[in-house]
Amino acid sequence: MRWQNSDSVATPPHRDRLMTEPAWPYYPVFLKLRDQRVLLVGGGEVAGRKLRLLLRAGARVEIVAAELAGDVAEACASGRAVHQARAFSDAQLHGCRLVIAATGDRDLNARVAAVAESAGVAVNVVDDVALSRFITPAIVDRAPMLVAISSGGAAPVLARRLRERIETWLPAAYGRLAGFMQRHREAVRDATVQGEARGVWERFLDSPAAERVLAGDEAGAEAGLQAALQDRPAVGEVWLVGAGPGDPDLLTFKALRLMQQCDVVLHDRLISPQVLDLVRRDARRLFVGKARSQHAVPQEQINAELVRLAQQGLRVLRLKGGDPFIFGRGGEEIDTLMAHGIPFQVVPGITAASGCAAYAGIPLTHRDHAQSCVFVTGHARKDGTLDLHWDQLARRGQTVVVYMGLHTLPALCAELIVHGLPPQWPAAMVEEGTSPSQRVVVGTLGDLPQRVEAAGLKGASLLIVGEVVRLREHLAWNAGGVKDA
Ligand SMILES: C[S@@+](CC[C@H](N)C(=O)[O-])C[C@H]1O[C@@H](n2cnc3c(N)ncnc32)[C@H](O)[C@@H]1O
Repeated sequence: MRWQNSDSVATPPHRDRLMTEPAWPYYPVFLKLRDQRVLLVGGGEVAGRKLRLLLRAGARVEIVAAELAGDVAEACASGRAVHQARAFSDAQLHGCRLVIAATGDRDLNARVAAVAESAGVAVNVVDDVALSRFITPAIVDRAPMLVAISSGGAAPVLARRLRERIETWLPAAYGRLAGFMQRHREAVRDATVQGEARGVWERFLDSPAAERVLAGDEAGAEAGLQAALQDRPAVGEVWLVGAGPGDPDLLTFKALRLMQQCDVVLHDRLISPQVLDLVRRDARRLFVGKARSQHAVPQEQINAELVRLAQQGLRVLRLKGGDPFIFGRGGEEIDTLMAHGIPFQVVPGITAASGCAAYAGIPLTHRDHAQSCVFVTGHARKDGTLDLHWDQLARRGQTVVVYMGLHTLPALCAELIVHGLPPQWPAAMVEEGTSPSQRVVVGTLGDLPQRVEAAGLKGASLLIVGEVVRLREHLAWNAGGVKDA
């Protein structure tokens, strides 16, 4: 939908705006209140909430209340607001830009409203739309960027819902982006002919340089802005993003945001189709996934590809199962990027251990059963042997999580028994954890290999060893329809 924009309003173009009947219950404005007198009548908790926002806007707030509590008392004691310990009088409104009545006394609120109306001072009475000249919107604060939402008093809960949506969608550092653009606004205007600046900013925002600002890389962002001014593609950026163990609901906000901005995605075998579905539709998809002992694309080639694509100015998403820094070779990939001066970001993801344990109802630590938790790889060496510190693993009071241990399970269990754990020691294998096809096989070190074989587990599987496995008997909560194999 393309709407004609002013700074703050988007209106459907098909309407003749001058001919429409009044439809807005309020006129939306942003008011400059810095160093302006504002009267706040009331000194309790509700007044405290209003005071906080007024102080964010730099207002000179005077509080009229017999008693002060909480934040209001603190603000007056520290000199950030002034306390007038007198009853409300008409004269106090003199020279005020706004007045807010936030007392629990309806008569007093009504009197404040009446006096303000006759003096021409805009008044808000908390929770009383009928007495208010202005109402305050729900706010998403990314200063200097502010999003204000109002249903005109019709459906405040709906306005709050919308605010929550925007809160999750708008990166916390969005204000930094607005600040960057503000700082460079004049320079861009001076360097362009009339009407050209807007195109420069559009190119800048569409380029990886905008992400550089969000990541706090001012120099990289400035280089991107220079490139936008010269209308040539800057060097791109690589985003090494952890996609979690499978359930798309376990993605982080940042992962989702970058997934929806990339030009090209390189993804693993472990990425679930539901997660891949959330990547920007027109992004190019390159499958570089690895099956055990059969690397679709060798790691060195993946590293080189990341560099090549970024050097073309592309925003490259390297999407990895779980967390990129946990058995994900993320370190090697960024090592290559660093060597070639390619900007990158690493976004952590929920690792298989956390995801599988949570969805299987097995806490990885527990005050009574496990005071530590170790993650190891069960991947065998070329000669088929396992290179692990068995003495450190075969310990009580500890949970051991083994990644890539499905094919070496018999050897893993046997070694743990040889090194001191009893054959009855609890162990579980979680297959395709957090996905709708998750299966959990529970047993002991003595019998788990046979149980896993009987169940025919073949997908990505995680081994959890330790007394915490027993807790599943009463903690399993059937997340996402978990099945026992
Ligand atoms: C190369 S490692 C990648 C680990 C990943 N970086 C992480 O943080 O979860 C692959 C192994 O992780 C485990 N794994 C990953 N996702 C899993 C899932 N959804 N369920 C069970 N195990 C999983 C399996 O042991 C699999 O063999």
